[in-house]
Amino acid sequence: MSVPRRPLIAGNWKMNGLRADGGSLASGLSDLMKNKTDAVFDLAVCPPFTLIAAVGDALAGSAISLGAQDCHPAENGAYTGDVSAAMLADLGCDFVIVGHSERRTNHEETDTAVQAKAAAVQAQGMAAIICIGETEEQRDGGKTLDVVKSQLAGSVPEPSAAANTVIAYEPIWAIGTGRTPSTDEVREVHALIRAELTAALGAEEAVGVRVLYGGSMNPENAGDLLALEDVDGGLIGGASLTAEDFWAIAQSCV
Ligand code: PGA
Repeated sequence: MSVPRRPLIAGNWKMNGLRADGGSLASGLSDLMKNKTDAVFDLAVCPPFTLIAAVGDALAGSAISLGAQDCHPAENGAYTGDVSAAMLADLGCDFVIVGHSERRTNHEETDTAVQAKAAAVQAQGMAAIICIGETEEQRDGGKTLDVVKSQLAGSVPEPSAAANTVIAYEPIWAIGTGRTPSTDEVREVHALIRAELTAALGAEEAVGVRVLYGGSMNPENAGDLLALEDVDGGLIGGASLTAEDFWAIAQSCV
């Protein structure tokens, strides 16, 4: 992590939590954050759609940001079951995750679809957390850098800026498995992402874009991962479901 970028620790709650759970997790975090006046990190939580409003209420007055896990690219219309970026902005969201591998796999989302969602998020004044990452087969086949490069080129809207764009590198085989790449492997991919962003957006914007690592980050491994030069925070799934673990990960930011 280097100077112009403040680490972002974002919790992806996925399809977890009923109202009571979401409320108590959010107020627990809110209390911790209110007592932490010297935080060197930004904290965000991305609950399921059903909990966003209640979590937003529980976070009121704290510095923790609210996010969502997906959106539809259109502003409104006949899209039964979908939620637009405008609706999420209206609830007070600052971030929307787009292109998570679970969406790409379970809902067949392509880079083009992800790019359209990211553009919709940016158009509403929020930041898109754009997820990319290779499968285990691609990693074993030596294709990681090519895959990441092509997902980045296809998923990041043009123009994008540091203020409205976050990249999350999440190797699919590391998500929810307890396995993580080595620090050298993470360093290599993040350096590539930074170089590609520099080529696409120009050095001035690219230097401010936060590039998160995601995939089995936990209080034990967070310190090593977050210390890497181009790792500017984490996108945390399982370990974001308890205030204790999520907070412990945030404390690893230096
Ligand atoms: P995990 O999930 O931390 O449970 O591996 C990360 C993610 O999918 O964003």
